[in-house]
Amino acid sequence: MYNNWEELEKSIINCKECKLCQNRTNIVFGNGNKEADLMFIGEGPGADEDKQGLPFVGKAGKLMNEAFKGLGIKREETYIANIVKCRPPQNRVPEQDEAQTCLNYLRNQVILVRPKIIVLLGSTALKNVLGKEYAITSARGKWIEKKGIKYMPTWHPAALLRDENKKIEFWKDLKEVANNLKKM
Ligand code: URA
Repeated sequence: MYNNWEELEKSIINCKECKLCQNRTNIVFGNGNKEADLMFIGEGPGADEDKQGLPFVGKAGKLMNEAFKGLGIKREETYIANIVKCRPPQNRVPEQDEAQTCLNYLRNQVILVRPKIIVLLGSTALKNVLGKEYAITSARGKWIEKKGIKYMPTWHPAALLRDENKKIEFWKDLKEVANNLKKM
């Protein structure tokens, strides 16, 4: 565990802890306000993110930006990271060993950011952060409080591209988050 961002960021530069390092262009460490009250956790970088080294800059990110704009959430005031920092081939779901190894970085990011609310985007984020016993279909939209952090599981934005109903629920969940944040 590193006590500061500089050491943590340095520790990941040449990471070869799992096989995802073999095909990456860039490590997508995460970005945003390092003292954010609100943090988002996604699954892993896609092609655009791999190219740019930044999280949620592709199609799914654009949907998030739309929701942020509509709900008055300023993206630059949040911190955004993923379960795995390197792109899985063909955007497949990260394998257990990949997620587990990379979680060390994510846990350290959460400790340093100290967010009050974490939005878990999709099943991979939910299961790896809170436990395999959770299912996104039943957990989404409901607060789960653990160790002083309030978690809101919701759909992964990529799922919204395939299903309009999920878009409505996603907006509803983020509205709940935005309202809660205002009260803090
Ligand atoms: N999907 C994710 O889970 N994370 C990203 O950064 C981009 C797409």
